[in-house]
Amino acid sequence: MRRRGRAQGRDPRVTVTFAALYGAAPRVRADAPGRVNLIGEHTDYNDGFVLPAALPLRTTVELTPRPDDEVRAWSAEFGDGPPVAFRLNVGACASDWADYVRGMVRVLVDRGLTRGFDARIASRVPVGSGLSSSAALLIALGRALREAFGLALDDLELARLARKAETDFVGIPVGIMDQMACSLADTTGALFIDTRTLEYTRVPLPPEAALLVIDSGVRHSHASGEYRIRRDECRRAATALGVPNLRGVAERDLAAIDSLPNPLNRRARHVVTENARVHATVAALRAGDLQEVGRLFLASHASMRDDFDVSIPALDALVECARRAHGVYGARLTGGGFGGAIVALTESGAARAAGEAVLLQQNRAFPHEARVLVPTAEFLD
Ligand code: GLA
Repeated sequence: MRRRGRAQGRDPRVTVTFAALYGAAPRVRADAPGRVNLIGEHTDYNDGFVLPAALPLRTTVELTPRPDDEVRAWSAEFGDGPPVAFRLNVGACASDWADYVRGMVRVLVDRGLTRGFDARIASRVPVGSGLSSSAALLIALGRALREAFGLALDDLELARLARKAETDFVGIPVGIMDQMACSLADTTGALFIDTRTLEYTRVPLPPEAALLVIDSGVRHSHASGEYRIRRDECRRAATALGVPNLRGVAERDLAAIDSLPNPLNRRARHVVTENARVHATVAALRAGDLQEVGRLFLASHASMRDDFDVSIPALDALVECARRAHGVYGARLTGGGFGGAIVALTESGAARAAGEAVLLQQNRAFPHEARVLVPTAEFLD
């Protein structure tokens, strides 16, 4: 999500309640989690496989329907002014955070939303960390509107509509992973998604394992331009290989991939090997082979760094540091890249100490302040 006009100083979440904004308590309250992708990066827009899990950090939407067609929305993350106001018949993007609200309204008007509403949004999912603050907002808002207006939408449909809001209205050509994860995943395991068919199965995290998520502090503000470029390169690689998309290329075709011009060869190699790593990770998790999952995490990171070119030195350093910490099986950049967070798989009970050890080194070497997001109580306050 693009960050504009963030409130400085005081935390407005503490003081500005729904009643203070709109004069009465909200009618409904709904929420949705951010997501951490365990493996399967930049595969979703290639019809491939992904393995995200829900974060214990959530975005909450409080909402009351209005009798007219006005929409008013306020976000604690961007809320140093009055609510943003617009009509149900939304016009163009305004290039601010509320475009996600406008986009969701736009798609839901076609699905039976006939009246406006007042909304207050508060989020514990950090913006710009590659942890899907945008999708968490879209899904939380969709859930609140579904409940308030009795809209007949299941969770998968909600994910599809949230993606449509982001691609068609906000104009960022994302895949379906984030919206499906925020709508369908939970924190007990991961969601193994075939993004071609949208079929998904749940893969529990073995009890001997834990996740560690560290935000590098580097926001991925230029990500959407690079994201488009990567998407386009994948499309060109598929065309050159004579397939509709890179899902249609198998690991045994690596020789054909190698003969593509640079960087299309490297882009395609990442996608094809990453799809194979998702399958291997699912099998290793099911078999309880955590060493193997760790190895796959590290191989995925190397592929994103060397072939897909979406890592940055701060993320490489975090991964290096994490892999050497006690009780860590492996680590990798999670999300679109160019900033954001890493995810590590650790022995259960080892994540917090490993995270602290990593921060100690990282924050000495890099100017941006890295912080542990999972596991932590501090950020959940
Ligand atoms: C962003 C997009 C997703 C996916 C990831 C990279 O999070 O929203 O659809 O492409 O990048 O795996």
